[in-house]
Amino acid sequence: MDKLFNRKKIILVIGGGISAYKSLDLIRLLKKQGCQIKVILTESGKKFVTPLSVASLCQNKVYENIFDSTREAEMDHISLSRWCDIILFAPATANSISKLASGRADDLASTVILASNKQVILAPAMNVRMWIHKSTQNNFNKLLDYGYVFVGPTTGEMACGEYGEGKMSSPEEIYEFIKNYFLNRDIVKDKNLKALVTAGPTKEYIDPVRFITNNSSGKQGYEIANSLAKSGIETTLISGPSKLKKPQNVNFIKVETAKQMYMETKKALPVDIAICAAAVTDFKPEKYEIYKIKKNDLNINFKRNPDILEFLSKNNSQRPKLVVGFAAETNNILKFAKEKKIKKHCDWIIVNDVSNPEIGFDSEYNAVTIIDDKNIEKISKNSKTNIANKIVRKIVNNFIQ
Ligand code: C5P
Repeated sequence: MDKLFNRKKIILVIGGGISAYKSLDLIRLLKKQGCQIKVILTESGKKFVTPLSVASLCQNKVYENIFDSTREAEMDHISLSRWCDIILFAPATANSISKLASGRADDLASTVILASNKQVILAPAMNVRMWIHKSTQNNFNKLLDYGYVFVGPTTGEMACGEYGEGKMSSPEEIYEFIKNYFLNRDIVKDKNLKALVTAGPTKEYIDPVRFITNNSSGKQGYEIANSLAKSGIETTLISGPSKLKKPQNVNFIKVETAKQMYMETKKALPVDIAICAAAVTDFKPEKYEIYKIKKNDLNINFKRNPDILEFLSKNNSQRPKLVVGFAAETNNILKFAKEKKIKKHCDWIIVNDVSNPEIGFDSEYNAVTIIDDKNIEKISKNSKTNIANKIVRKIVNNFIQ
């Protein structure tokens, strides 16, 4: 019996696919390691495996119906979604993936998932054409955006005789994936990691009505803070002016100027991880005029703002173990980014090409390249949420190795 699995509670949703029989093996594997399993069998799932075989394997009642008159008082959809550590949907069909992506709740499985605050893991299984269809891929991306994670599908010969991507991962692969998930989550929790993220623009006042700023939305930094917090890392988000909602479970500090951001950063130390995603205004007026400047009196001198990234990287007494900077470049992207990494002494630079109007500053999308001491890793155009999840996965891996 694996200690990691001992007493972990899993809801397994079995959907209607030929690979449903593999989920019976998965139940066996997980039970052997000491997991408690409750199974929800969808209407079409019942066509492939019987409630009786599932119930005898998991040694628990099988849940089938959202409107079960004998159990109405127990509110199954809420109590089930609160009971478990994770929800695993295997096999997840094209139809169930579409249903989850649109937020429908018309059976017990979709209602439990919509009502859940736990990690949802999906193991898709379908014909290759169904999997690569644009609508399934859109639904897949939407679910990634919602924070769901996928194991598989894999490539191979399908039950229908065709060949391609769409096969459900094997019970062993799914088992290993879940094991990794628990391992990462528990290790991260044990390490008590702390992170600090700067995000958004800063605003430098010239006089009571005028200021300089930029059009950074803050979205990428907010998503990174959100994803760090979801991974169990204690996260402080120091944000310049932004219209975005504060992410959940994050220590949120709102500032206006670069100087305030710098002071709050200093106060947040020590941390293990610092991500400087803010578009800090490089200059500020040398002197703030307390009265509105007259039109003809325009004579402003500027001075540099403190460089927060450089301060964190060069801070010998309280340097975070990992300092990550961002670079927005329009040309010679890799060359300039590498130079910035050296100049600022940070560990990673994440660079985005802001000459592409479809990504970057005020967009929902981004495409980045992560440069560390050894590797250059490209993440192609994706929602800022997915980019954040990928960056955070790399950060977590860096700490658990
Ligand atoms: O020098 P440049 O502004 O291009 O560097 C960008 C990186 O430096 C970003 O990570 C940004 O958050 C950080 N930065 C900072 N403080 C400044 C200027 C930039 O932390 N004053």
